[in-house]
Amino acid sequence: MSKIMEWVNKRFPLDKVWKEHMAEYYAPKNFNIFYYAGSLLILMIVLQLISGFLLMAHYDPTAHGAFASIQTIMYDVSSGWFIRYMHVDGVSLIFVLLYVHMLRGLLYGSYRNPRELVWIIGYMIYIMMVGEAFFGYVLPFSNLSYWAGVVITSIIRAVPFAGAYIEVLVRGGEGLGTSTLGRFLALHTVLWFDIILLLIFFHIVALHKVGSNNPDGIEIKLNKGLNGHPLDGIPFQPYYSVKDIFGVGVWLMIFAAIIFYDPTMHGVFLEPTMFAPANALRSLPDVTPPWYLAPFYAMLRAFSNKYLGIAVMVLAILLPFFLPWLDQNPVKSSRYRPVYRVMIILLVATFATLAWVGEQPPLPKYHLIEVVGALLYLGFFLLLPVISKFEPTRPVPERVTQ
Ligand code: HEM
Repeated sequence: MSKIMEWVNKRFPLDKVWKEHMAEYYAPKNFNIFYYAGSLLILMIVLQLISGFLLMAHYDPTAHGAFASIQTIMYDVSSGWFIRYMHVDGVSLIFVLLYVHMLRGLLYGSYRNPRELVWIIGYMIYIMMVGEAFFGYVLPFSNLSYWAGVVITSIIRAVPFAGAYIEVLVRGGEGLGTSTLGRFLALHTVLWFDIILLLIFFHIVALHKVGSNNPDGIEIKLNKGLNGHPLDGIPFQPYYSVKDIFGVGVWLMIFAAIIFYDPTMHGVFLEPTMFAPANALRSLPDVTPPWYLAPFYAMLRAFSNKYLGIAVMVLAILLPFFLPWLDQNPVKSSRYRPVYRVMIILLVATFATLAWVGEQPPLPKYHLIEVVGALLYLGFFLLLPVISKFEPTRPVPERVTQ
């Protein structure tokens, strides 16, 4: 075995990569449960690739065949239901992990200097994931897929001058049909997905260049021992690789429980209208997006002027990109910033409320909640530069706490 490794290492820097990114990559010793999300996201992406590949073997990307081929997978293909639910539930679980991962970044100021690029690339992955999920959503060509596709692609029409042209280009015609499925399938499985993989690679490279943050928001590289290694750091291999493997085990049990016992999660992970074929003559009374996009949809709906609604939604999606520069406080972790901590709790509560209201029918009784929610969400980002400058902070310890 060592002879083989020697042969490989002479031709490929496997030993160097292993040393730099595993055996001698020092990570802070105070990681907590939030730090499982990153490795679990990598696991889930790999599982999506495998289940997606198996689905592709039976999927028919035509307007008349797509829905039927999904039914074939569910009822006729051996273990097809398992593969499909793995893929569909995997999407929702990826978004659960993404939100936990981002919340961790907010709580401990992981977006701050020197990790701005880690955050920005990460947020680009999130935006790309939203697109990836949308393309996948349309592929089964169920009635929900069809109308979601119509509603979302019609937003493009709001683009000044070229809107109508781009809409036809994206749809592959005036309406949704086989041409739409062809291009959405190509994007979902090739171009879009490959860009996501590339971004994940860049995300990890950028993180390993600067090193991981931790719940105290202290730079462990500032306190090194005589051997040159951070005093508050431990090698990733074996300490965190073992921890991550444990996390994978627990997570797979949760994943399996969902697939086996409640694969649609009472219609939240897979909506009932996903079980009826596309019908251009039977529009759905209210097309609501999946739960993970509902907060942005609620903000779109909050304003009766269509253009104002779109502007607010676009702003809401773009603002997190600028977080590294909106936060002006020298202290990173919310552990030592009581005001910032309250702001994050308020943001999470607002986001959850917007997600709930975004799933409700567009009735006047919800309008006030949508408007207040949109203002609170935008307020978090727009007021942060001022509040973070003047907020009182608690003393930050010099070494990480346990
Ligand atoms: C599929 C998508 C993603 C994957 C596979 C991924 C993977 C990872 C991994 C493996 C780590 C190191 C382990 C850890 O700290 O948990 C990490 C750290 C980080 N990620 Fe992601 N990530 C993804 C999306 C995102 C998104 C959407 C954001 C933010 C918008 C983000 C921001 C960060 C930050 C700031 C860190 C450093 C955290 C720290 O050191 O405290 N990531 N990511």
